[in-house]
Amino acid sequence: MARRFCDETDSRRLLNPGPVTLVSVAFRDERNAAPVAWAMPLSMEPPLVGVALHPERHTTDMVRAAQEFAINIPGPAMLKQVHFLGSHSGRDVNKLEAASIEWFPGMRVGAPLLDGCLAWIECTVRDSIRFPDHTLFVGEVVRVQALEEAYAGGWLLEDPKYCPLTYLGGDEYAVIQDKRVAAIQTTMQGGLVLETAEEREEREEREAQEAEAKGAEGDEGYAEMRRFLGRD
Ligand SMILES: Cc1cc2nc3c(=O)[nH]c(=O)nc-3n(C[C@H](O)[C@H](O)[C@H](O)COP(=O)(O)O)c2cc1C
Repeated sequence: MARRFCDETDSRRLLNPGPVTLVSVAFRDERNAAPVAWAMPLSMEPPLVGVALHPERHTTDMVRAAQEFAINIPGPAMLKQVHFLGSHSGRDVNKLEAASIEWFPGMRVGAPLLDGCLAWIECTVRDSIRFPDHTLFVGEVVRVQALEEAYAGGWLLEDPKYCPLTYLGGDEYAVIQDKRVAAIQTTMQGGLVLETAEEREEREEREAQEAEAKGAEGDEGYAEMRRFLGRD
C-alpha cells in the first residue's frame, strides 16, 4: 500500500462523505434551493447546525435576507435534480420549477420543503461567521421531519431508495449504505481486540471462497484461451 501527498484543498473532499443537502429558502415571492455539501452539526443543546455558503450563491443572499432556511436531505432518486440545482443559479432561473421539484410549506419557516427528499430540518439563522471565501450560517433547528422508511433515530439504510446521497466532487456522488456495526471488545489490559476469533474465522472463510472463485475464473479464462487458439 502506498500513500500519496494530496493538495491541502483535498481536505474538503476527504471530509465528505456526509450527506449532501439541499438548502432551500424563500424570500418575498421567490423560492430557491442549492446543494450544499458543507453542512454540519454544531451544537446539541440548543440544536444548532451550520451551512457554509459562498458569497456568489444566490442562496447566500436569500438566506441573509430571509434569516431562515431549510436543509433537505435527498436520496438517489433526486441525483439529477441535485446536480441541476448545483449547476444553475436561482438568480437566472426558477430552479425548482425547471427541475420539476414539488415542495410543501415548512411548519416553522417560510422555506419550501422539497418533495422527494428523505428528511427536512427547518432553521432560523442565529449567527453568521465570515471566512475568507465562505460564510457559515448557524441555524437554530426549529423543526425536523424524516421519512419513516429512511430514519428511526438513525439512518436505517435498509433500502437504497431511502439512503442519503453523498458528494464526491465534480459530477460524482455515492449512496451511503452498507451499514456496519462496530462491536468493540477489549483485552484484560484494556487494549482493543481488532479481530475476534469468530471474525477471523469468517474472514478466512471469505478469503478462501474468494480465492476459489478467482481460481475458477482463471480456469475459465485458460479454457477460453485454449478454445480461441483452437487447441480444444
Ligand atoms: C453536490 C454539490 C455540493 C455543493 N456544496 C456547496 C457548498 O457546500 N457551499 C456552497 O456555497 N456551494 C456549494 N455548491 C455549489 C452551489 O450549489 C451552486 O453554485 C449552485 O448553483 C448555487 O445556486 P444559487 O446561485 O441558486 O444559490 C455545491 C454544488 C454541488 C453540485
